[in-house]
Amino acid sequence: MKKVLIIHGPNLNLLGQREPDVYGPVSMADINSRLEEKARALNMEIKIVQSNHEGEIVTTIQQAMTWADGIIINPAAYTHTSVAIRDAISSINIPTIEVHLSNIYKREDFRQKSFIAPVCVGQISGFGENSYYLALEAAANIKK
Ligand code: DQA
Repeated sequence: MKKVLIIHGPNLNLLGQREPDVYGPVSMADINSRLEEKARALNMEIKIVQSNHEGEIVTTIQQAMTWADGIIINPAAYTHTSVAIRDAISSINIPTIEVHLSNIYKREDFRQKSFIAPVCVGQISGFGENSYYLALEAAANIKK
């Protein structure tokens, strides 16, 4: 069974209340339960983590080395700033998919640069909550 770690970055715990015109009306808890449902259908095991702290995300990525076959990460604001998260991903040999609810290339200039994308297999951006579900399907089909 494929094992995938899903990481939600800062402020994503506020989904549903936070700028719903940009990020949609659905809460993180709802997205997580749909991810669990879809993982069961794809015969995958998932672990879901949310953190508002860069160092905690780095540690979570490092700890995935002993467990995960794949990582799905929405680094949120750290997408545009974090060399530490990028280095953590490139330090472990686990295929990683970057996810965004919004299309970061349609937004402010500072969001149009991802430090994370170059160390990922691919990026899914702009499909709202569906970005996560598409990423899970993509992860199911990645050969390690
Ligand atoms: C986001 C896009 C980021 O620019 C922003 O900082 C977020 C959410 C998204 O999912 O669209 O917090 O990652």
